Amino acid sequence: MFARAAAGLYKATMDDSGKKRGGALNRRIRQHAAGKPHRFFAVAQPGFEEIARDELRGAGVAEEFSLVEGGLEFEARLDGCYRANLCSRALTRVLMRLDRFSAARFERLTAKAADFPWELYLNGSDPLAINVSCSRSRLYHTGRIEEEMRRAIGERLAACGIEPPAVEGDGSATPQTVYARFENDVCVTSLDSSGAPLYRRGYKTHITSAPLRETIAAALLHASGLERCTTLIDPMCGSGTFSMEAAHIWSGRLAGDGRAFAFERWPAFRPAAFAHLKKTLSTKYSSAGDDTERRLFCADIDPEAVKTARANMKNAGLDDAVIPVQEDFFAAAPDIPLGEGTLLVLNPPYGARIPHGNIASFYRRIGATVRERYASCAYCVIVPGFEVEKALSLSWDKKIIFMNGGIRVAAIIKQAP
Ligand SMILES: C[S@@+](CC[C@H](N)C(=O)[O-])C[C@H]1O[C@@H](n2cnc3c(N)ncnc32)[C@H](O)[C@@H]1O
Repeated sequence: MFARAAAGLYKATMDDSGKKRGGALNRRIRQHAAGKPHRFFAVAQPGFEEIARDELRGAGVAEEFSLVEGGLEFEARLDGCYRANLCSRALTRVLMRLDRFSAARFERLTAKAADFPWELYLNGSDPLAINVSCSRSRLYHTGRIEEEMRRAIGERLAACGIEPPAVEGDGSATPQTVYARFENDVCVTSLDSSGAPLYRRGYKTHITSAPLRETIAAALLHASGLERCTTLIDPMCGSGTFSMEAAHIWSGRLAGDGRAFAFERWPAFRPAAFAHLKKTLSTKYSSAGDDTERRLFCADIDPEAVKTARANMKNAGLDDAVIPVQEDFFAAAPDIPLGEGTLLVLNPPYGARIPHGNIASFYRRIGATVRERYASCAYCVIVPGFEVEKALSLSWDKKIIFMNGGIRVAAIIKQAP
């Protein structure tokens, strides 16, 4: 089956000289991969889909989005995919939809995989990872599915004169990842455009034991109204995620400024056009800021956490702007004016590492401190469960429930006016 499909393709492309064949392939890449819109699925942590949609609209990715739990679909050209990866602070990754077909038997799967023009999307020189998931489908042996797809892709590329990609894991390069998702005997294939998850911004090299993902921190800051605030108080900073995200949002730094993406290895990728897009977006975002003077207070009771946060600030180029200090949240409020333009963010320990006393009394104390000292401020407090939320006893405008480190938590938010 593969041999037939591959031989046909080989003939079609070998009619010309080797050079011309390359030209023909380039033309097809320009026409089909670069020149046409594609469907994309942007993965977002459940609870943050609407925030991600607003970000993508603001970045000029698309106008129409379909939201589902855990992400959003949109149609765009490659430019839209690059924008989503560069600008979104809330997304985890962006997948390009490739194909959708029914396949209840291996013969059908291999025929469809051999028919797909992988040469337009994969360059062959990077290792290839194939990520398979199956639910309610007659094909359920993920290892065999991966094997069949890898063979079909390799033969298809070889027929185009492209070396078949190595299996992931030799460590030489970041792999390209194809996702094959089977549900009710229908297979959807997608190509990952992001590479490392988008919460890896490229600067948090040091972590404390329960760090918050950058994507969650940014989404919560946005939901709390950070853009309308002039002061951020981050008194249980851990590795400093809230503070770093806030400083970068305020300065208009692109989320993806300091990292690479899988799409940079796609055959349709044009480095000069991408550099121009990145520059245009950097200018747009950084000039959206104003001259307002902003303050950021970042502290933790644990000297190790303070050290970690300082190291991260340095990596993020923020060591002049933010100097984490060692302080107990309950001891005193920071010595800066607090009021309507102030946002307090708290991701307290969830249980195991709470010093002296039980979790309810710890959160009760946090709630009392917030009411007493931060009554006029906006706040975002992350709580692990409803009982703890009752103990905290803070009013809210918005509550976002999400999973953090395998624990179901809620962000209790009083939004900035
Ligand atoms: C869940 S971690 C915060 C993680 C952080 N958001 C991050 O991204 O790394 C909770 C932090 O609260 C700090 N903490 C606990 N009690 C504190 C207190 N009374 N004052 C200040 N910090 C405290 C802990 O040392 C720990 O670093």
